[in-house]
Amino acid sequence: VHLPIGVFDSGVGGLTVLKALRDRLPQEDFLYLGDTARLPYGTKTASTVVRYAEQCAALLVARGIKALVLACNTASAVAPGRLAARFAPLPVLGVLLPGASAAVRATRSGHIAIIGTEGTIRGGAYAKAIHALRPDANVTSLACPVFVSLAEEGWTDGPVTRAAAHAYLDPLMANGPPPDTLVLGCTHFPVLAPTLAEVLGPSVRLVDSAATTAEEAAGRFDSLGILKRPGGRGRVAFLATEGAERFARVGGVFLGEALPPGAVELVDLPAHA
Ligand code: DGL
Repeated sequence: VHLPIGVFDSGVGGLTVLKALRDRLPQEDFLYLGDTARLPYGTKTASTVVRYAEQCAALLVARGIKALVLACNTASAVAPGRLAARFAPLPVLGVLLPGASAAVRATRSGHIAIIGTEGTIRGGAYAKAIHALRPDANVTSLACPVFVSLAEEGWTDGPVTRAAAHAYLDPLMANGPPPDTLVLGCTHFPVLAPTLAEVLGPSVRLVDSAATTAEEAAGRFDSLGILKRPGGRGRVAFLATEGAERFARVGGVFLGEALPPGAVELVDLPAHA
């Protein structure tokens, strides 16, 4: 009960998930690992992402965690089963299934669009998860890798971001009946949500997998009896595999609060975990 909840991502983007987890479970301590040395995961093959995810999880487990949240959508699309098996009985939760079930709850027409990295979209894991819940859903999947760079640059709005949003999303809205729900299937996309909402218009609901994952984590970890009693504000420790200073600077955009430059500890991942 007194150990932190481990959270990992390929970099700083997963801080959007950490923020949602802290809002939902303020009393908990968190240990966050950003694998900044090997970002992006979104362009890599599934087997590489699984291997990286295992190494990240092993490092967090060695430090002592009571549960693991995979904040990275790309890793959540390929690795949760492997991690749950390897680190059992550690509870392992990814962002993909909570995002998929939130999308199924949100849609009225049954037409859901997913945006994410190439890796997340290529494997079709979101579409499979949605179809498992609603077999007649019409799912359109679209890789939007440029959004990752825009978010990392802190360009959450403005003309360049709006132009990129139009370039990706206008065809989605124009080719055939438009979706009524869009899943932000990447850690970096929640910070772009206002611009995406403006480009898509009011007929499309945005589903943010960060908030729904926090809700799922609260429910699942509570039922396992591993949560602290509510009250007080827990601590957060940050680990990164490279660029602690950049992590602190860019991370503030995603966490929604400034990270002091000395807050991030550099760690090395074993090459063959
Ligand atoms: N964290 C990744 C995701 O949510 C985005 C960044 C990357 O490609 O590593 O898919």
